[in-house]
Amino acid sequence: MTDIAVRAEGVSKSFGKTLALRNIDLEVPRGIVFGLLGPNGSGKSTTVRILATLLQPDTGIATVDGIDVVKHPDKVRQRIGLAGQYAAVDEYLTGRENLVMFGRLSGMSKSDARARADELLHQFDLADAADRVSKGYSGGMRRRLDLASSLMARPPILFLDEPTTGLDPRSRLALWQTIQGLVTDGITVLLTTQYLEEADRLAQRIAVLDKGDVIAVGSPGELKARVGGESVEVAVVRPADLDTATRILAASASEAPRVDVERNRVIAAVADGAAAMARVSGAIAEAGIATEDLALRRPTLDEVFLSLTGHTAEDEDEEPAA
Ligand SMILES: Nc1ncnc2c1ncn2[C@@H]1O[C@H](COP(=O)(O)OP(=O)(O)OP(=O)(O)O)[C@@H](O)[C@H]1O
Ligand SMILES: [Mg+2]
Repeated sequence: MTDIAVRAEGVSKSFGKTLALRNIDLEVPRGIVFGLLGPNGSGKSTTVRILATLLQPDTGIATVDGIDVVKHPDKVRQRIGLAGQYAAVDEYLTGRENLVMFGRLSGMSKSDARARADELLHQFDLADAADRVSKGYSGGMRRRLDLASSLMARPPILFLDEPTTGLDPRSRLALWQTIQGLVTDGITVLLTTQYLEEADRLAQRIAVLDKGDVIAVGSPGELKARVGGESVEVAVVRPADLDTATRILAASASEAPRVDVERNRVIAAVADGAAAMARVSGAIAEAGIATEDLALRRPTLDEVFLSLTGHTAEDEDEEPAA
């Protein structure tokens, strides 16, 4: 077993005139969550589908556990689980039947499939709904069922394509915890996302995709540092407090605070986000300063993009004039 679970080298893929992936390299170390971060159309699903043997690359080599995805797709499939961008559940089957069917398709015996389905229904909080047809499931329940399906055969490597898109904040949080639990169990997860916050929260390493190019790879901290990292912003109610607030912020900041006198605001970059926020808010309270706003600002995906590419993520959708 190599310590690299998934590797892509010089992988390209075009659809007609659309170049979906341009010569990308990826290395996913075993036992982590690896985040593939990018806006709509940047090539996330194409990458996942190539790695999961559903699509052949035009050029380059991709391997899973050192096994070539084009030469030995069957062997690769035995090692991976996939939850695609759109939940692939059979609406006319119950949750339990869906899982058992997936297990049977991946070669499990009936009794093994039933036992494993039972285990996963409990793990994914679907036990109560297990014997209802999945047509009536909520979006979050479908996502969980889809994820459970991908885990039936206990794959060591899991591909999740935008697992939380369309979920409400509570379901998203629950799914994040589930994904973290999978990695604790030793599974390697490659997930795609459009949200920096999600990649930040889950992934130990992130590759940023832009129009089919990998434009940056690093830890969440490294990527955020490239856009200036986090900052603390304080807006005071009484203009007379602005000086004191500025001094307080300066004591916790990694650079000189910028003061906006007209809006009674001061903002400064901090190296240790949450801890700095706690210090500043404690000192502000102690000084008896009334605040209108006191917040930790994190860079958004748009700011990361702007900083890395010089254009915003939204520009992506613009089609070149024909
Ligand atoms: N089957 C296909 N036929 C034609 N073009 C395709 C096909 N699949 C993908 N593309 C194009 O390839 C590019 C990359 O698409 P891909 O689906 O990989 O992006 P994505 O990052 O997953 O986007 P999203 O966030 O919207 O899911 C896009 O320009 C898309 O229109
Ligand atoms: Mg996609």
